[in-house]
Amino acid sequence: MRLRPLLEVPLLLGGLLVLAPAAPAAGDDAARGLALFRDHVEPILRRSCFACHSHEGEKARGGLVLDSRAGWADGGGRGPAIVPGRPSESLLLRAVSRTHPELAMPPEDKLTDGDIDKLREWIALGAPDPRRIDSPALARRLEEGRRHWSFQPVRRPQVPGGDGSARVLPIDALVAAQLEASGLSLAPPADRRTLIRRAYFDLAGLPPPPDEVEAFVADPDPAAFDRLVDRLLDSPHYGERWGRHWLDVAGFAESSLFIGDVPRPGFWRYRDYVIRSFNADKPFDRFVIEQLAGDELFDWRAIPEFSPEQVDMLAATGFLRSPPDATDNQPITQMDKRHAAQQAAVEVSMRALLGLTFQCARCHDHKFDPIAQEDYYRLIAVFQPAYDPENWLPGIWTADRPGPLRAIPLLPREERETLMRESLAWTTSPLDAGSDAGKARKDELRKKNEAFQNVIWCLFDVDTKPAPARLLRRGNHETPGREVAPGLPSVFEDPEKTVSFDDPPGEWTTGRRLALARWLTDRDHPLTARVLANRVWQYHFGTGLVATPDDFGARGARPVHPELLDWLAAELVEGGWSLKRLHRLIMLSATYRQRTASREEPASGPRVPAAFRPGPRRLEAEAIRDSLLDVAGCLDRRLFGPSVPTQRLKDGQFAIKPDHPDRFRRTVYISTRRTHVPTFLALFDEPLMDTNWPKRSASVIPQQALALLNGDLALECAERFARRVAAEAGPGFDERLSRAFALAYGRAPDDEERALFRWSLPPAGGGGEPPADEAFWRTACHAILSSNEFLYVD
Ligand code: HEC
Ligand code: HEC
Repeated sequence: MRLRPLLEVPLLLGGLLVLAPAAPAAGDDAARGLALFRDHVEPILRRSCFACHSHEGEKARGGLVLDSRAGWADGGGRGPAIVPGRPSESLLLRAVSRTHPELAMPPEDKLTDGDIDKLREWIALGAPDPRRIDSPALARRLEEGRRHWSFQPVRRPQVPGGDGSARVLPIDALVAAQLEASGLSLAPPADRRTLIRRAYFDLAGLPPPPDEVEAFVADPDPAAFDRLVDRLLDSPHYGERWGRHWLDVAGFAESSLFIGDVPRPGFWRYRDYVIRSFNADKPFDRFVIEQLAGDELFDWRAIPEFSPEQVDMLAATGFLRSPPDATDNQPITQMDKRHAAQQAAVEVSMRALLGLTFQCARCHDHKFDPIAQEDYYRLIAVFQPAYDPENWLPGIWTADRPGPLRAIPLLPREERETLMRESLAWTTSPLDAGSDAGKARKDELRKKNEAFQNVIWCLFDVDTKPAPARLLRRGNHETPGREVAPGLPSVFEDPEKTVSFDDPPGEWTTGRRLALARWLTDRDHPLTARVLANRVWQYHFGTGLVATPDDFGARGARPVHPELLDWLAAELVEGGWSLKRLHRLIMLSATYRQRTASREEPASGPRVPAAFRPGPRRLEAEAIRDSLLDVAGCLDRRLFGPSVPTQRLKDGQFAIKPDHPDRFRRTVYISTRRTHVPTFLALFDEPLMDTNWPKRSASVIPQQALALLNGDLALECAERFARRVAAEAGPGFDERLSRAFALAYGRAPDDEERALFRWSLPPAGGGGEPPADEAFWRTACHAILSSNEFLYVD
């Protein structure tokens, strides 16, 4: 029995909750129980109890309502009124049969023995109670909320001219129709120089090489752009570029955020997995399934030695390990930290995949969206077997918690198991390293330590019989409420399409996350494809069709073009969830190929929405750094592998050590610490990954100019750039300037620019071609790299 603080009573009256399904009784019993409930129990309660115990009667005497399952499950001041399966322990039955020392219900008329027998039998059968919603207010909100646009099925729209009469692509037909309605139209196409630069940055995050620019500009074939897009999609740099976008969505960072912000060994494997998946054009439904439940796809514990694919399946679940976790490096963790980590995994993954702010339902029913607090805890229950606060996998070994760990060492089965099991001796030893025995085994321990660096940081079910998840009243783990079974949020429940969370693929796991992933990627799911299509659009245009990519709920933005969003979502699903196909559809459209037309627009009147303007856009921090290195000729194009470490340098900057052999690798391979974003990147809005980051900002601040003028990276790149230009263009002034412009901007300098650079030359001795000395070219190249044209793409 549980004491309920008085404060809770008005809350219950206000009606707070939606209910868990009845504990599963064996088939026949459940059916009998349900029939009994419908034919007898509900009528008895209604007739004899509701006057004093229901929302209808507007009374909750003793704090108890009986018009819902939650009502009796939470119970009144004395705790749960019914214990399913145990009539004699159920307060309700004792009260009606008058075997309780102080309670006799109803107070006036006793129930007939027949009625009491029905109640007893029903409780014995597990008390199945289908009534799900106890608050009329919440029921109304759920009903209204269900009508919100994003919960409606995706409907492929009628495309204007879709009968084939017009030779216009569907995206353009849809956009043009909407613009025309406000007297607007698409801008004319951008020239080829602009287009190749736009496409290169969009798909590879790098500037186009000059010879490709010239070949593309000179190519008379109208299909040249199609081929360019295909080539870029085939480039391994595509995965680096788009993988980085997804890492933002997932909230990937290789450290814990808390105390010391300790690094997570082996977590870079998730980053590599993401890049590989994008490059392989892994169907997005598969990508979701692997990230939520890669560990449930095969019995990894039984595998003698993992294949690269199996490593990837496990590394994929790094998606759920991405949020900050204060228990990463804590030998003793407080309960609240465990719950917080579990909650973050649910909240971030649902924002990323569903575009819904479930976090608002952690402490109370969602105030704006049709999400009850109970819905939140159903999802918690889905994650409970892997993220069980009562059975927590630590990030490090400790004396009192020898293992298993949350990370899987990459070793043959036996050694792997041993290492995960026998860690006790390993961790206690450093403490008594001074002792004779300690002066052990030192070598052996070092080896184990090294092995532990070579791990997959991942997620898996700790126990196939986890402690039940409980609703936390006010989100507080110290006031747990009733048990909540895993299930879908009620707004998504569909009697024709039930989802079983009790259908394990094998005995090594519960299959709960797998069930969730399969439901999310059902082709009829209203949100998953819309949310993804919107993200893709956003990364191409800078603004999504829905301006709030993580919130498709009532407080989120409305789509600027609902039909276009639905068309894209439908194409995505029907195209086998291929992202590369979606890129092609978008990039080949006239909408994408428009000229950046901002200057020609009238100052007042309707304007073309930002979501339909491809530029101008400031490049993200990664693209700026990568471009500097690329133009300077030192970009290290190797793919994959452990992250390049960063550290605090003497001058106070946070950066890669200047003599580190990997210092010119692409930015996506730089270690992402949560509290220490490299200084140069932070200036260009590289996010501090406290949760996830659905949309980069593009600030303009003076420190950016300073970093480009005085920063070590810019200076070094300018110097290398100048040397490269000299080597490739020879001594001539015009040749060098042209080469520098071609590399940095993909075009030739115009007359004015030539004159400007010439004018700033040191005076020539005796006429003729002025001396182009090293210092001049260093400065000239530096100026070229520090310009807006280098940082922006049209
Ligand atoms: C006329 C009003 C009235 C009716 C009708 C009534 N009750 Fe009650 N009930 C009360 C009051 C008042 C209390 C609080 C008594 C107390 O706490 O000692 C209460 C308390 C209870 C409690 C204990 C709640 C707790 O946790 O403290 C149970 C169980 C209960 N009623 C069951 C029933 C059932 C079952 C029925 C119908 C068969 C019923 N009651 C009909 C007035 C009523
Ligand atoms: C850590 C717990 C917690 C979380 C998470 C939380 N709230 Fe609240 N919220 C409360 C408490 C406590 C109250 C005051 C009591 C109440 O209304 O239940 C409250 C009240 C509110 C109210 C005013 C009450 C009303 O009915 O008008 C709104 C609006 C609200 N929250 C919105 C949100 C939104 C939106 C989010 C998600 C961004 C959110 N809350 C997340 C604890 C929380």
